[in-house]
Amino acid sequence: MTRADLPAVMRIERSTFPLDAWSEGMMRGELDDQPRTRHYIVALVEGEIVGYAGLAAAGDQADVQTIAVSAGNQRAGIGSAMLGELLAEAVRRGTAAVFLEVRADNPPAQAMYRRFGFRPIGVRADYYDDGTDAIMMVRRLDEEGDGNG
Ligand SMILES: CC(C)(COP(=O)(O)OP(=O)(O)OC[C@H]1O[C@@H](n2cnc3c(N)ncnc32)[C@H](O)[C@@H]1OP(=O)(O)O)[C@@H](O)C(=O)NCCC(=O)NCCS
Repeated sequence: MTRADLPAVMRIERSTFPLDAWSEGMMRGELDDQPRTRHYIVALVEGEIVGYAGLAAAGDQADVQTIAVSAGNQRAGIGSAMLGELLAEAVRRGTAAVFLEVRADNPPAQAMYRRFGFRPIGVRADYYDDGTDAIMMVRRLDEEGDGNG
């Protein structure tokens, strides 16, 4: 993802996360730290941005910062392709564990993460602005036989 991608990315961000969309400034701040601690990607279909995802890596840990696919392009494998690329980047950086937070009321995303070997490790009550809990998940990369992806 580059700054030139921000208008298209922000359109998806605002429509996909109506309750807690990032501001364009927040997204730009993430790009400003590429490639040092951040790895942000976009997914293209016929030249159009239909999704994006970002990883933050520090030391031997990393976090999935965000991942979204535009409404008309979901359930076609694009989210999986992007999550696979984030995990590949985490491996390239020597990461031992990748963490993420997901809304308790978002079973589709939780299902995708489980398919990639993420396991729930705790709940942050009232994490989101509307009072929804966050489920914390981790995928270890330094152990054999820990799921697929
Ligand atoms: C979550 C999201 C990124 C997944 O991307 P996607 O391209 O739709 O996902 P994929 O097509 O790669 O699906 C991967 C798996 O996720 C699960 N999944 C995805 N959408 C699902 C749905 N609507 N219902 C149930 N499971 C779903 C399934 O296990 C699916 O595998 P399958 O299709 O073989 O059953 C996408 O739905 C999205 O952008 N949602 C809104 C934003 C969001 O919630 N982001 C995550 C915040 S933590």
